[in-house]
Amino acid sequence: MKTVSFPHLFEPIEIGTMVVPNRVAMAPTDISSAHADGSVSDRSIIFHEEVAKGGTGFIIVGATTPDRTTGRPTVTCFAADEDPMIPGLASLAEAMHRHGAKCAIQLQHPGRQSAWPRKDMISASDQVVDLPGSAGHEVIYAEVAKHGKSIREMSVEETYDMIDKFAEAAWRVQQAGFDAVELHGAHGYLIAQFMSPYVNRRNDRFGGSLMNRLRFPLEIISRIKTKCGKDFPVGIRYSGEEWMEGSRELAESVKVAQIMQDAGVAFLDISAGIFDVPGPTMDPMYYSQGWNTYTAEEIKKHVSIPVITSHTLRDPSYCERIIAEGKTDMVGLSRGIIADPYWANKAKAGKPDEIRKCISCLVGCWQESLMIKRECRCAINPAVGDERFIKIEKASEKCSVAVVGGGPAGMEAAHVAFLRGHSVTLFEKSGELGGAILNCCMINGKNKMKWYADWIRRQVKEMGIEVKYHAAPGAEDLKHFDAVILATGGKLVKPEVPGIDLPFVINYEDVLRCTMEKCEYYPAGKPAPVKCGETVLIWGDHFGAADAAERLGTEGKKVVIVTESKEFATWMEPIHKDVMTKRFNGGNGEGLTTKTIAEPVTILTRSTVVEIKASGEVVLQDSEFKKRVLKVDNVVLAKFAQDNELYKALLAQGTAVQQVGDAKAVRNLKAAVAEGSNAALVVAKDLQLNANNAYISEIPSLVNL
Ligand SMILES: Cc1cc2nc3c(=O)[nH]c(=O)nc-3n(C[C@H](O)[C@H](O)[C@H](O)COP(=O)(O)O)c2cc1C
Repeated sequence: MKTVSFPHLFEPIEIGTMVVPNRVAMAPTDISSAHADGSVSDRSIIFHEEVAKGGTGFIIVGATTPDRTTGRPTVTCFAADEDPMIPGLASLAEAMHRHGAKCAIQLQHPGRQSAWPRKDMISASDQVVDLPGSAGHEVIYAEVAKHGKSIREMSVEETYDMIDKFAEAAWRVQQAGFDAVELHGAHGYLIAQFMSPYVNRRNDRFGGSLMNRLRFPLEIISRIKTKCGKDFPVGIRYSGEEWMEGSRELAESVKVAQIMQDAGVAFLDISAGIFDVPGPTMDPMYYSQGWNTYTAEEIKKHVSIPVITSHTLRDPSYCERIIAEGKTDMVGLSRGIIADPYWANKAKAGKPDEIRKCISCLVGCWQESLMIKRECRCAINPAVGDERFIKIEKASEKCSVAVVGGGPAGMEAAHVAFLRGHSVTLFEKSGELGGAILNCCMINGKNKMKWYADWIRRQVKEMGIEVKYHAAPGAEDLKHFDAVILATGGKLVKPEVPGIDLPFVINYEDVLRCTMEKCEYYPAGKPAPVKCGETVLIWGDHFGAADAAERLGTEGKKVVIVTESKEFATWMEPIHKDVMTKRFNGGNGEGLTTKTIAEPVTILTRSTVVEIKASGEVVLQDSEFKKRVLKVDNVVLAKFAQDNELYKALLAQGTAVQQVGDAKAVRNLKAAVAEGSNAALVVAKDLQLNANNAYISEIPSLVNL
């Protein structure tokens, strides 16, 4: 008989009246792909069906509003506030049931965190807040950070009305054939607003004592039981710790668990955080695997109903261990399953290395989607939101494809072109594949990027794609290929100021190099990082600037960042920026237990370098032309620009060429992966460029370009 890898992970579990086939849950995830009226779309069915096919035992469909009029957590979340939503929800449940999964819907009213409507927001208490990491932050008012947004306390009548709306919505979920319903009492949404001692300032029956603060969810649970029957499993998600001064801590969360169990709740889904401090809610890369497991572990000691833990769970072996050790009954993965919907199948097959592990970058699933009122994407899984990548079709004719540059854009392009059956040659100028991601391996907290580097490098290797190392082909060398994909990356900018060539002026890559004796990423001839003096000025506003500051700050150097922008790192994902800023200021950023940057990092905005002297004095000038001089040991250049030379030459010689990633415009990993894979998907015989210089294989007119 075949032995099952990770036996505890794949053992069935009873949750109330439902039997779940394994211990892998998809933590509630609002992919914001419903229709504008909140009804279920084909795209949302396809997404959840893939998760069920991928072997997830219990899928908790994310944020579904019980009342669109007063609040949607994202603009295109699901709604269960009217009966006409039932047929669509039923199709969604059927799609997951087809593949053996059990499924629940999470009912979520955003209250003060409403993405829509944006006015007259309701909550447990009156408040003025700025919630920088939440999808309900105001993207349209430039002044919001200064003024916050004002929120109105719900009257007792409104609160009872809302209790009924939750119960009605749960009944619709049951009618649609879902196996269970979950209440969202975490992350500072409406139920959490009532439960939290920090947010709830009421002095009526819904505020004050713990029982009063729990009255809102307890009344909802009781009303659901009346409407749906006591056998319909009702779970609740809440944060084990809210991580805010004056908010709920673990001791109270244990009491909440016992009260919920007594109220007939079937399972507890233990999360973390409240959006006023976004780090623990949407853990950035800095947070380590399983950092929140301790909350479920403590709560589980005091209840007998199943407990789910979540937050940065990535490795099946870690998940297996915490179940085996009795720290949790189930593991809940959100981004891990967005990045790889087949996580459970790969684990069960004993192939954990095949899992494309989420790197917690929050760029695709948050910054460039839900935060700006768009549908969910994933930086490393191009199939999220683009179904053409779920099953990549073979091309009708095999082409020869040259991919120049072995960074993420180039590797993705080579991977997809190969899957389409093309003959692919990947040229890499160094001796290693990875490009800019390799610089992240050594940066505190950013080394999760390695996981993606590992995965994509393995695809290229195992598929047997031809890689030419130490190869930088010119236009002439690429003439005979049917298609050329240029993924050569950006280039470092060396501003023309006096002193730029002095020996202590180095570039960010010199600082970020790997320090390990032996390293699989740089097997041969690895240069050591340049050793900097005590005071370092970093000039630029690119990933390289933030990463160099992180690295040098961790080494105890005194770091000054100089940028011409009015704010440093506006491009950075806001939750990472929030945590980075706290760390640069000498703090540790909530969920992180260690303070790694001792000396606060100074950031000088609206400033530039006008001269670097041999003595180490650097002359700076601000936007009002005021000058100041800083004495430093090193200057680190971190200005980056696209690189166009080869592209222009290829266009001029009539080659079918597409530029992708930083070579096209300096951006992030998501852009690299999306553009690399998209370019490869279009490659076909007799490829042409349209009038925008984009690949086109079918010309929608008879005009031959
Ligand atoms: C795109 C996205 C949507 C999310 N939607 C919800 C949601 O609807 N309800 C909820 O409780 N948590 C939601 N979360 C939070 C996750 O369930 C999870 O707690 C968090 O992402 C950390 O776990 P992870 O490391 O497995 O992603 C969402 C997270 C992401 C990235």
